[in-house]
Amino acid sequence: MLNVGLIGLGKMGKYHLNLYSDISDVKLMGICDANPDLVNELSEKTGVQGYTNYKEMFPYVDAVTIAAPTRFHYEIAKDCLLAGKHLLVEKPITTNYDHARELFDIAISKNLVLHIGHVERFNGAVQEIRKITENPRFVETKRVAQFNPNFKADSIVLDLMIHDIDIVLNLIGSPVKAIQAVGSKVHTDLADFASVNIAFENDAVANLYVSRMSQIKERFMTVYEDNALYKLDFTTQDINIYRQGQTQQTFSEKELRYKNEFIQERLFVYKENPLKSEIMHFINCVTGKTKRTVTVEHDLLSLNVALKTDELLRKGIFGQVEL
Ligand SMILES: NC(=O)c1ccc[n+]([C@@H]2O[C@H](COP(=O)([O-])OP(=O)(O)OC[C@H]3O[C@@H](n4cnc5c(N)ncnc54)[C@H](O)[C@@H]3O)[C@@H](O)[C@H]2O)c1
Repeated sequence: MLNVGLIGLGKMGKYHLNLYSDISDVKLMGICDANPDLVNELSEKTGVQGYTNYKEMFPYVDAVTIAAPTRFHYEIAKDCLLAGKHLLVEKPITTNYDHARELFDIAISKNLVLHIGHVERFNGAVQEIRKITENPRFVETKRVAQFNPNFKADSIVLDLMIHDIDIVLNLIGSPVKAIQAVGSKVHTDLADFASVNIAFENDAVANLYVSRMSQIKERFMTVYEDNALYKLDFTTQDINIYRQGQTQQTFSEKELRYKNEFIQERLFVYKENPLKSEIMHFINCVTGKTKRTVTVEHDLLSLNVALKTDELLRKGIFGQVEL
């Protein structure tokens, strides 16, 4: 039985809390939040010991999940690792590359498991598309939502686009050659929508579009290969594949006729709760049942690309031409 603790009981922490009670071979020994009222309420509801100081929880746990706000991750994560705790930290691990590197170095030197909560990696459709694509030439992602004032101080890249950056880097699997970013402020002092192009050494290109000024929530990815096109819906975990597209145009005196024929396949995707799969993977790595599926270097690369993209947007840099 693995004893775990949970730090941060806000929106994301509550999802972790609900799932931990659902997972066998794991016992939630402590929950912690800086807000004592929240701790009391959830401790009473779940029967799990509550804390406002996470260090008091250390003697009772082997592994910890951090779902506190990102700006506190580095300090809390370092304390947990130095105390010898395996760690699952919500994404983004930090907003500073050197801090993230340092945390992984500590984890490696102490033989501890350190995972970042890139939950979209565990989306059934994302797992499947990695198996069926061979040579993506162009990948397009769209992740848009309504404006939520609670997140107005957060970067849309580190909050939303980091999921797509992580998936696309993994899917294309070639070094990044260049990044272009353009976006604008609408509701906040940061970019509220952005379009980002990533060029890879193997000549593949990704265009990632993210927005928090939409009226609807949409999360899609389209992958273009030489002979197939894959459309993935992150929300429903569906994949549709289109092959052998044939277009025909007929001109007559009065009209232009356009015909497009293709074969469409709908893939069967095994759908599990992605957060549950993420927690299970973490637990299985801690207990030695499996090895991490994504390397530390990949985790650091995703963060680095996200930070560089965020920097471009903050500076308002885009390889634009003055007219
Ligand atoms: N994986 C995802 O898709 C996803 C989605 C949303 C949020 N997140 C990440 O989860 C983290 C938390 O986000 P959220 O939306 O749940 O935030 P939130 O503000 O809803 O909750 C954070 C909680 O942490 C508590 N807290 C603050 N400082 C603390 C400390 N020192 N010790 C203990 N508790 C402390 C706060 O009181 C609050 O209850 C962020 O890093 C965010 O980026 C990830």
